[in-house]
Amino acid sequence: MNKLLTVSLEWMDARFPVSKWWNEHLAEYMAPKNFNFWYYFGSLAILMLVLQIVTGIFLAANYKPDATQAFTSVEYIMRDVEYGWLIRYLHAIGASFFFIAVYLHMFRALLYGSYRKPRELLWIIGMFIYLALMAESFLGYLLPWGQMSYWGAQVIISLFSAIPYIGEDLAVWVRGDYVVSDVTLNRFFAYHVVSMPLILAGLVFVHIIALHHVGSNNPDGIEIKKQAKNAKGWPLDGIPFHPYYTVKDIVGVAVFLIIFLGIVFYMPEMGGYFLEKNNFFPADPMTTPQHIEPLWYFTPFYAILRAVPDKLLGVVAMGLSIVVLFFLPWLDRSPVKSIRYKGIIFKFALFLFVVSFIGLGYLGMQAPTPTYTLLSQILSLIYFAFFLLMPFYSVWDKTKPVPERLTD
Ligand code: HEM
Repeated sequence: MNKLLTVSLEWMDARFPVSKWWNEHLAEYMAPKNFNFWYYFGSLAILMLVLQIVTGIFLAANYKPDATQAFTSVEYIMRDVEYGWLIRYLHAIGASFFFIAVYLHMFRALLYGSYRKPRELLWIIGMFIYLALMAESFLGYLLPWGQMSYWGAQVIISLFSAIPYIGEDLAVWVRGDYVVSDVTLNRFFAYHVVSMPLILAGLVFVHIIALHHVGSNNPDGIEIKKQAKNAKGWPLDGIPFHPYYTVKDIVGVAVFLIIFLGIVFYMPEMGGYFLEKNNFFPADPMTTPQHIEPLWYFTPFYAILRAVPDKLLGVVAMGLSIVVLFFLPWLDRSPVKSIRYKGIIFKFALFLFVVSFIGLGYLGMQAPTPTYTLLSQILSLIYFAFFLLMPFYSVWDKTKPVPERLTD
């Protein structure tokens, strides 16, 4: 058996670089030996991408992208297709878990300065992944053709019309009609199942290549590539990704799946956070729901949009709140990368940022009142201040000396 494997591998290697790639990206990819909890979320994001694609294929096999049949085809999947309910819940709730993994993954980069030189491009590719992911979930949300699918799309697409001169035409162009209709549903289906998954998978591939070119950062923010090498030619604080981190990541996958499946099986709606109540009603263009709000992962930005009284300026503020993240590598001017060696000012700023992001997320889900609007305005200011004042406070901050070797 072993001989057969060796011979097959040799046959492949002579024609395709299997062993070369395995070694370069797994068995001989040197990773810092102090990866902690926060380093699970990259592999978990890959897991969710694969799960979404696989469950999505099975859903697409039974779904009908037609305004008269979409809602009932989803009901059919839930009731009549074998394990259709499971496939649909894995996909719909999987979207929320994909965002949980990606948000924690991005927060890790904030903690350890993983966006700093030489990983600026890695971060920027990550930001494009984030944009693609937002587009993908927005497109997918229209497909069940429920009330919130319909009205959510209506609200978001109409934001385009706030753009001067070309806005109205742009909104019609995106919808393919004067209102969200069958035409919109049909094209969103095409983008959701073909274009965006291709773009996402391509971007993730480039993300990993960029990561392996510069090497992973770590909780100490020390560049192990710059360290002396040991007898085996490994950096002093490096270990091969495989088997050390492949095994460790399996633990992360197991715990993540226990939580994920616990929700899929026992509380799929999660109180309306993962599946909204209004989406159990078929889309009705004649009846607007009382509150139109996006799913939780969009609400921080939705709150920023609503915090600004002017529609156009609101759209601009919402756009900038995402665009500003692209510039993070150049806004942070601290001499150290990791939060472990940063001073109290940066730590406090990061704390305020987290409070503002979660607070905005909460406010984006509430019906607007004058008090909530004021709170959204204050939190939006804190959100922007975190980024725009960073070039100053990251320099004033009193940092600690970074050791030569990893500390744990
Ligand atoms: C589909 C979504 C994504 C996937 C599958 C993915 C995958 C990965 C993987 C496997 C790693 C290496 C393991 C790890 O460090 O956890 C990684 C590292 C990294 N990712 Fe992502 N990623 C995604 C989205 C993003 C986003 C949205 C950003 C930021 C905007 C980002 C920024 C980074 C950075 C800065 C690193 C290097 C971290 C370090 O070395 O400390 N990624 N990514």
